[in-house]
Amino acid sequence: MDVTARNVLGIKSILGTELLNKHQIQQILDCAFYFKAIRNTKAPFPKSLAGKNAVMLFFEPSTRTRSSFALAAKNLGGNTVVLTKEASSTGKGETLLDTARTIEAMQPDVLVLRHPSAGSPHHIDRALAIPVINAGDGFHEHPTQALLDLMTLKEFKGNFAGLRVLIVGDIAHSRVARSDIYALQTMGAKVSVCGPPTLLPPQIEALGVTAYTDLRAAVRDQDVVMVLRIQLERLNPAQNPSGGEYARFYGVSTETLKHCKPDVLIMHPGPVNRGVELSPDVVDGPRSVILNQVGNGVFVRMAIFHLLTGGEALHEGTMV
Ligand code: NCD
Repeated sequence: MDVTARNVLGIKSILGTELLNKHQIQQILDCAFYFKAIRNTKAPFPKSLAGKNAVMLFFEPSTRTRSSFALAAKNLGGNTVVLTKEASSTGKGETLLDTARTIEAMQPDVLVLRHPSAGSPHHIDRALAIPVINAGDGFHEHPTQALLDLMTLKEFKGNFAGLRVLIVGDIAHSRVARSDIYALQTMGAKVSVCGPPTLLPPQIEALGVTAYTDLRAAVRDQDVVMVLRIQLERLNPAQNPSGGEYARFYGVSTETLKHCKPDVLIMHPGPVNRGVELSPDVVDGPRSVILNQVGNGVFVRMAIFHLLTGGEALHEGTMV
């Protein structure tokens, strides 16, 4: 089965934003905005996933990503089966590849994978004929998160060209940072990063970003400040900064906002550790679009399901 010949994106799977060009990102966003416009008119969604099944292998915890993939499939008339690490036979010693092949033998239409090992979706994708969607692989990539971030930015800022975006926090262990850097740069934004030296990858500037260690200097002139959680599950204990000290130097608070542009957008992929990387008043304050990001996650995942399973290109102009 040649899936690529059947879909308008011309790719079999969504493995990372590093592998997406501007046109493909634009097509996904157009389709996501189309679905959002339908929701706003309360008209029914097209049932482009009717009779189709998505299997979701979630081998790491997830609230937003897992539930929004499930809602996305349901909105399009599809079914989902969720397998967690605890509930699957990997706990009995089966390899991930064998688990994936076993699932493919049951003929689902798409596989969604969240896994702690960087590169695991690429490995599975090579072995399977069905599309694979990376829902987060270790510290590597989280492409659907970056795409929902772009959708939210487009809504609030209109244009990507020249947009100045600062990513703050644990850049070294964040798959969200990596996926956002690639996607934002592809769309023409200017990306900077800021964090303690221990949490900045040594070669980060090779990615074309400006690196800061002083938060006040970094936030000046930024249109967007994207804040990240410290990835405690991926750090060795020696790298682990104390919450209080981290908040003092790198926590984004009302005090930090005084150094920002008045119309700065505050983003966070969630889950937020209130009082560590973001103060509660900023999380709930007028500059925060955190819940808009969550809401847009459903539309972006609908767009990806629709397009990868052979749906036609959709944009708001397509609406009748
Ligand atoms: C992120 C993840 O899992 O990478 N969360 C998410 O998917 N919304 C970020 C994080 O866990 O810090």
